[in-house]
Amino acid sequence: MKLVKDQVALVTGASSGIGKTVAYYLAKEGAKVGVNYYSDEEGANDVVKKITEIGGEAFPVQGDVGNEEDVLKMFNKVYETYGNLDILVSNAGIQRDAPIEKMTLKDWETVIRTNLTGAFLCSRQAVQYFLKRGVVKGISKSAGKIIFMSSVHQEIPWAGHINYSASKGGLTELMRSLSQETANKLIRVNSVAPGAIKTPINEDVWKDKEKKEHLLKLIPYNRLGEPEDVAEVVVWLASDKSEYVNGTTIFVDGGMTLYPGFINNG
Ligand code: NAI
Repeated sequence: MKLVKDQVALVTGASSGIGKTVAYYLAKEGAKVGVNYYSDEEGANDVVKKITEIGGEAFPVQGDVGNEEDVLKMFNKVYETYGNLDILVSNAGIQRDAPIEKMTLKDWETVIRTNLTGAFLCSRQAVQYFLKRGVVKGISKSAGKIIFMSSVHQEIPWAGHINYSASKGGLTELMRSLSQETANKLIRVNSVAPGAIKTPINEDVWKDKEKKEHLLKLIPYNRLGEPEDVAEVVVWLASDKSEYVNGTTIFVDGGMTLYPGFINNG
């Protein structure tokens, strides 16, 4: 039995990396998927093609998650195309790294706008729809599911990346408060917090031998993560298998949040 059969999902930032694999995995488990992209239409078309090749359904939908008008249009396209929405994976995220003394207001605002305001705008649209629609028997036990793509940096401080870690820390309380606000309407809200996953966002690190070796010292499980490691957990969170899981973060990080500096430390 497919885990999210006949459900409709929207995945933001799905033209590359984790989002692309999440879109594919949801489709593999029976969902029809809106594949959001910002500028990489080719990347979105590529995942739509891969989904179609396995007999799944998907379509590309352009939109900047930080732009209110774009977000409204994006959700309307999903309703027009599939007449429904069951799962939002709010995944789009960016980094603009700099030490604070060199960080411009633009670096700060661009990251907050995409990673945090984007999550607010998309989850607001999803909740409006889920509240109106309610539970659909035979499809899912919940009225809707929201999964935010957070990061280990919602917890681990990250020097040189204060805009990014602040955005993910903010996302934690957005997720928890929203879950508290909507759980009694049977809307499920959770986060997945990846560690170091091999995607374009951090390829400057994993493609560099020395930087990769340093990074591996921070991962007790001793390997970098793959987008598939994250996608498996997102699919589970989107399915009824996790029905009683509400307002929590699942870390998919090979133990990165376990203070690895303390291994063999007396
Ligand atoms: P990525 O760079 O491949 O994916 C980010 C996606 O977001 C891209 O497809 C990009 O086009 C899209 N995007 C950027 N700005 C957008 C906007 N304004 N509107 C719509 N889409 C936009 O990187 P990755 O790794 O797949 O990142 C996905 C999420 O996972 C991000 O939220 C990131 O913070 C998070 N993450 C990634 C980790 C990693 O090690 N790769 C670790 C922890 C969290």
